[in-house]
Amino acid sequence: MRNTIYILGLMVLAVATTTSCSRNPKEPGKIFMPDMAYSPGYETYSESPIATPEGVKMSARLPVEGTIPHGFIPSDEKIRTNQAYLMSYMAKNHFTGKAEKWNEEYAKAAQLLQDPLEQSKENLDKGKEVYTIHCKVCHGEKGNGDGQIIVLADGSDGPYTAVPPAYKKHLPEIKDGNMFYSISYGKGMMGPYAHSLSVTERWQVIHYIKSLAGLTATTAAATDTAAKAATPVTAEKK
Ligand code: HEC
Repeated sequence: MRNTIYILGLMVLAVATTTSCSRNPKEPGKIFMPDMAYSPGYETYSESPIATPEGVKMSARLPVEGTIPHGFIPSDEKIRTNQAYLMSYMAKNHFTGKAEKWNEEYAKAAQLLQDPLEQSKENLDKGKEVYTIHCKVCHGEKGNGDGQIIVLADGSDGPYTAVPPAYKKHLPEIKDGNMFYSISYGKGMMGPYAHSLSVTERWQVIHYIKSLAGLTATTAAATDTAAKAATPVTAEKK
């Protein structure tokens, strides 16, 4: 009797091991314990029976407005403790870069954004590198708006129809925040660079183009203005 049970047991086992597997390696074969094979947890983007008040049924909830993605603000101490730097990182949350909002946002950028970088050879050199790779073709070596696709080597008109303004004349008329906005989101016939240049690189190239225009960067200019603003106040008090 005992032997029969053993033999029967072995036969069942043999049948189970030979038939339960599937030839397709992607298929689980016969499923004896569905709880283990199919996770009862919701898949991230699958539909959930519970909808949000707005009627969204996706299992993973959308982050609340203004959420900052993890790692979006670099862990770099220099950046995290620098208000002007942080504002440039946050710009993405405040600006859309959309054509119908362009003017409004361009003006807002002038008020909101300030140059966070110190004047240094390192920043200037990096800015020159970025400029040479991305901007020189149009803006030209010295920023005169005569890059090689604007004016050809023989002096005739190049294939690019829009002529960039000469930095020497144009940059003194706009604010640093304007430059940052135009470089990030594009302006007229100039394309946007937010996707290909980091926040730091955008400010570094601003240092460089300002040097081409013969302008000092804001840090120096700001101290200058502060000093100038302070003088009349003291003068009035006397
Ligand atoms: C394909 C040609 C082209 C390239 C490449 C290009 N620009 Fe321009 N840029 C222009 C044109 C054209 C204008 C004038 C836009 C207008 O006012 O309509 C302009 C304007 C500007 C202005 C003035 C913006 C303002 O607010 O008035 C700045 C600053 C500037 N570019 C910086 C850069 C920098 C930095 C780069 C490289 C990262 C770059 N550009 C690459 C064509 C280009």
